[in-house]
Amino acid sequence: MTQSVHRSAGVTVRAAAKINLHLGVGAPRADGFHPLATVFQAVGLCDDVTVSADEPWEIQVSTPSWMPDGAVPTDASNLVARAADLLSRHHDVPLGGRVAIDKAIPVAGGLAGGSANGAAALVALDRAFDLATSDDDLLALAAELGSDVPFALVGGTALGRGRGELLDHVADGGTWWWVMVPSAEGLSTPDVYRHHDRLRPDAPVEPEVPHALLEALAAGEPLALARHLHNDLEAAAVDLRPELGELIARGESEGALRGMVSGSGPTVVFLAESADHARDLAGALMRGGHDVVLVANGAVAGAHVVTSYA
Ligand code: C5P
Repeated sequence: MTQSVHRSAGVTVRAAAKINLHLGVGAPRADGFHPLATVFQAVGLCDDVTVSADEPWEIQVSTPSWMPDGAVPTDASNLVARAADLLSRHHDVPLGGRVAIDKAIPVAGGLAGGSANGAAALVALDRAFDLATSDDDLLALAAELGSDVPFALVGGTALGRGRGELLDHVADGGTWWWVMVPSAEGLSTPDVYRHHDRLRPDAPVEPEVPHALLEALAAGEPLALARHLHNDLEAAAVDLRPELGELIARGESEGALRGMVSGSGPTVVFLAESADHARDLAGALMRGGHDVVLVANGAVAGAHVVTSYA
């Protein structure tokens, strides 16, 4: 008997999209990455990753009808494949299995959907193959996969430093309602950072921690949070896609407490006062001609097993 009693034939792990409530970006470091002071929030717009351990290696992607076909690569460049490779080398064991990604998070949208898939794959493969990777090792592997992947593991609301991978828990006293409008075409994160460097040659070496925003979060006060939402990459994203500026203005004129670009964009997120307010705002944006409008609340959990079967 070589098979462990804990090994599961199949595991489904859910991981959430993130919004940056604050994204402070400094001048590029020697390694090309930008020092960040960011506040992440995981919101209830989730992708599921299912590993079927007894099948041959394959990545399958299913997308909702409103997502462009073929937007997610199924080759070695998919973060799920890179997660499997990292975990396999870490434990020095071969890892196989069919990995099915069920997408709801827009691709290349500034919501860290790829990072969510990478984080979910790390957890699903770890459980399916009974690898018992420590939390610290999973976080280190996640940071190798990408700057936003550690937060996708942890979830909740967190302060991110370094290139976004160094996380501290922050107090969050609210249930925050978000209305999100994705774009049909994604934006390249490196392009947006490069454009930001051109627009902001005076960026600081160390961006500052947003204390006023952290206070609004802890107090659970939507109007105060709305006042302090901030994204240094917004100017670059709007310069590359001027229609994003018009979308923000339209959402705010329809009653959003505040609209902003999420991360490097192009998804625009609007803060609403309540679930009812979010529903009304989503309806108004759809009547205004936006075909895809998503509603989610935060904060929600990081990557976690939702189904496991023997
Ligand atoms: O780490 P990740 O793969 O998510 O980053 C994607 C790209 O975004 C990087 O290659 C880099 O161009 C840019 N980036 C950056 N500074 C960060 C995070 C990402 O310049 N802190």
